[in-house]
Order: sequence, then structure tokens, then C-alpha cells
Amino acid sequence: MAHSITRIRVSQAQVLRAYAPKPVISVPSRCHTTEAPRKASWTHPIHTTEQILAIKPSHRQTKNWQDGVALGTVRFLRWGMDLVTGYRANSGHKNTSLRSIMTEEKWITRFIFLESVAGVPGMVAGMLRHLKSIRAFRRDHGWIETLLEEAYNERMHLLTFLKLAQPGPMMRIMVLGAQWIFFGGFSFAYLVSPQICHRFVGYLEEEAVITYTKAINDLDNGYLPGWEKLQAPSMAVRYWQMPEGQRCMRSLLLYIRADEANHADVNHTLGNLNQNTDPNPFAARFKLKDPGGSASVVRN
Ligand SMILES: [Fe+2]
Ligand SMILES: [Fe+2]
Repeated sequence: MAHSITRIRVSQAQVLRAYAPKPVISVPSRCHTTEAPRKASWTHPIHTTEQILAIKPSHRQTKNWQDGVALGTVRFLRWGMDLVTGYRANSGHKNTSLRSIMTEEKWITRFIFLESVAGVPGMVAGMLRHLKSIRAFRRDHGWIETLLEEAYNERMHLLTFLKLAQPGPMMRIMVLGAQWIFFGGFSFAYLVSPQICHRFVGYLEEEAVITYTKAINDLDNGYLPGWEKLQAPSMAVRYWQMPEGQRCMRSLLLYIRADEANHADVNHTLGNLNQNTDPNPFAARFKLKDPGGSASVVRN
């Protein structure tokens, strides 16, 4: 029986394509771009110069034992963090050993570590409230979005600092370990008492305001000459919509400090509320029924 042989013409390009190594992941060609997205997922509100300069470290006094637990935990964590990283304030170089002087590099290292931790609570709280909402067939009253937005904002802080320094292997291990421990611990604590957790974040953010204030003071006092003419990364300029002439490192620290102060206010407020029934006042949208009339509140 005669077999007919069909000859298939194959072009050189087809052969090359067939034998080319397969990529580990495939990326659609439209994704190949060096252009960063222009619009953030959560657009940052524009802060005026007066607003960011007006931020000062503040403290909410404890009012009950739950507040005491939250503040005590934050103080303990801060003490441990300062001990491990050898942090000392640059209150004057006379009594400060060279090893503990906060240089530009040490500040950035501290910021990167702290911001990698700071991005956890909002995401955990948002996730747990989301899960509760769907398993209990209940509305969330607008909390989730604010919490996720906070996590996004903290991640933008981190990504901004990563434009100024790249963490080494040791830092990566520290961040990995801290994330495991903090994610587990905070998730458990949030399931037990979300109220204490919001208070804890409120006090943690108070510490963040203190940290950025100290860094700004170091810059003003001439301890950080490398930052005096340093410009903020372009992603930061876009995210905070920093105006022309206010795009230096000092302005960047002022913007971030204002965010931390906002996180403190938001979390202390959330810590005051009934976690199950109260709406999130920061997500409330007011819709006027008629000009001059009473306002009805539309909440998520
Ligand atoms: Fe932050
Ligand atoms: Fe924060």
C-alpha cells in the first residue's frame, strides 16, 4: 500500500518560535511598559503646606485598662525595636557614640522596616471585617474601604523609600520574620478585640509621628546633609501631588508624617466606636436632600 507523504512548509520564524525557550510566566504585550500608572488606586487628598507643617506629635490619654494594654504593647515594641536597631536620637553628637548616630542610611533602614510592618494592620482588619460581613450576611458600614486604603497608603510609604535604598538580605529576613509574627499576632488579637487593636494602631501611629518629627528635626539641624538637596522620587511627587518647589526630601517627610497623624486619628476614632453597629464616619458620604435642608447620610 502506497503511503503519500505530505510535505509541510515551515518558515524559519516558525521553527525559531517552536524551539525558543518557554517563558516562566507570560505577560500580554500590552503590559510591556516602562510607564508607571498615572493614577493611584486610592487618590491621595491634596494637603496644603499649612496643613503638613501644622502636624505635631500628640498623645491620647488612656481612659481604661484596654487603652493601657494597647499603649503598653506599643511602648514595649518600640523599646525592643530601638534596642535591636541601636537607635539613639541625634540630640547632639557630644554624648552620642558614632555607632548610634542616625545617619541618612540608618533612617531609611528604619523607615523601610517600620513601613513594612505598618502595612499589615489595615489589611488584616479590612480582610477580617470583609470575611465577617460575608459569613454573617451583614453590612460592614463602610469600615473596610478605609482600612484597606490605610494599608495601601502605608505600602506607598514603603515603595517610596525603596526608591531611595534597596534592602539587603539581612533586612529581607527581618521583614519576613516580622511579617509572619505580626500578621499572626495581629490577626488573632483582632478576632479577640478589634477595639483594642484600633487603639493599639492609634498609639503606634502616634509613635510614627514622633519618629518622622525626629527625622525632620535631624534634617533641620544639619545631621543629614545628604538629604538637604535630595528630591523626592517621581512616584511620590505624583502620589502626594506635591507642588513645584516642594518636592524635596523634607517635604516628603512632612507629607508622610501627615499621613501617620491621620492614621492615628482614624484608628483612635474607630477604637471609640461600637465595632458591630457603628458606621465608619470617615466613609460617610453626605447627600443633601435639598439646599439648606437636612442631610441624609449614604454609607457603604
Ligand atoms: Fe507609614
Ligand atoms: Fe501609618
